[in-house]
Amino acid sequence: MNSWINIGRIEDIPRQGSRVVKTESSGDIAIFRTVSDSIYALNNKCPHKGGPISEGIVHGEQITCPLHNWTFDLATGEATGADKGATGHYPIKIEDGEIYLSLSVDYVQ
Ligand code: FES
Repeated sequence: MNSWINIGRIEDIPRQGSRVVKTESSGDIAIFRTVSDSIYALNNKCPHKGGPISEGIVHGEQITCPLHNWTFDLATGEATGADKGATGHYPIKIEDGEIYLSLSVDYVQ
């Protein structure tokens, strides 16, 4: 059974922006909002060399790491293109504009 954590409202995150949620069990989790208001949650540690992907650039449904420009699918955490690797991704649900994060499933790493 999922345990959902309320992490704030959609409008708390700018479009194409992010915020970081600190958790005891899973470390820092980056929450992203796309231009179309989709919300995604990824482990904030790039699988390449540990870059803070929350500081990357959101474009479409992808994020580009700020350190060496690897690009990840926001829904799966998988690297795209020629790069190989993945960062953990977490379920999100939205209810009445509130964002809920689950730490219990979908963790890749
Ligand atoms: S640390 Fe993210 S691409 Fe290198």
